[in-house]
Amino acid sequence: MSFLDFLASQFSKLQKATLVESFQDDLDSSVTFEVVDRKIPFLPLFDVRRLEFQRGSSYSYSAIYLNKHLRLQPIYFAVQRLTESFFPKLSSLGSALVLGCAGCSIPRFLALSSKDCKITGVEYSETMIKIAKKYFIDDPIYHYFLLLHDDAFSYVHKTTEQFQLIYVDLFLADNNCPQITSMDFVNSISSLMAGDSIAIFNSLCLSKEDCMKFASRYASSFTATYVFDHQFHYYVVFAKTSSLSTLKAFEKRAMNFVRLDERFIAP
Ligand SMILES: C[S@@+](CC[C@H](N)C(=O)[O-])C[C@H]1O[C@@H](n2cnc3c(N)ncnc32)[C@H](O)[C@@H]1O
Repeated sequence: MSFLDFLASQFSKLQKATLVESFQDDLDSSVTFEVVDRKIPFLPLFDVRRLEFQRGSSYSYSAIYLNKHLRLQPIYFAVQRLTESFFPKLSSLGSALVLGCAGCSIPRFLALSSKDCKITGVEYSETMIKIAKKYFIDDPIYHYFLLLHDDAFSYVHKTTEQFQLIYVDLFLADNNCPQITSMDFVNSISSLMAGDSIAIFNSLCLSKEDCMKFASRYASSFTATYVFDHQFHYYVVFAKTSSLSTLKAFEKRAMNFVRLDERFIAP
């Protein structure tokens, strides 16, 4: 945890929430999404805007710091740290694909980390695209951000581009889309990965055992596959590289932030 994160967590109890706007989901009428600003009095540095999923329970799909000097965003800590661990020179990252964008927290982290990174986002919910454009990405920090209204599973078949970083964050309401572990999808992801590259899967709704099976099943298609654990929230990572020292350095840096539960190296 950085000093700034520590400060933000200490003051988070004083946060005041203001509802900005509420939207009914176009795909599931039992779900509403709220854009909520959370501010700590006298500490505008840590003003956060969240996109909250509401159906009985509520949780955050996306969250961003409104201050552009805060590069690391207040959600998806593990994804950001895994990305930095694989790409220690993150400012020269050239291309990234985010599947499932909502309020675009990870695109924001990438845009603030690498001015020249060409970021492609794919999002199939019209409501999300509307919310993102109105409240989250209307900002000059995005030099090369293309937000496409498309289905991720069809996009990965159509595109001929390659990416250094792929983040798969596909949810149907509060569940992972089941197809994320299918052979067809994983093969497509593999074909979109450039030379030295990683694909990070947010596996929020998969158990540790399912993540282990997922990572081991595809071990031979990548240089290495991993299961990382951040506070019992699992991430499956596929890495491609010709250099074993890149993998070793990645693992060492990553373990400063997340637990490495399992590693499968291609035979
Ligand atoms: C947890 S949110 C993504 C948060 C985002 N990655 C960020 O950085 O803030 C998951 C998103 O996946 C989208 N989604 C689910 N299935 C999809 C699909 N098949 N194609 C594209 N987007 C999809 C949902 O509409 C939702 O907006």
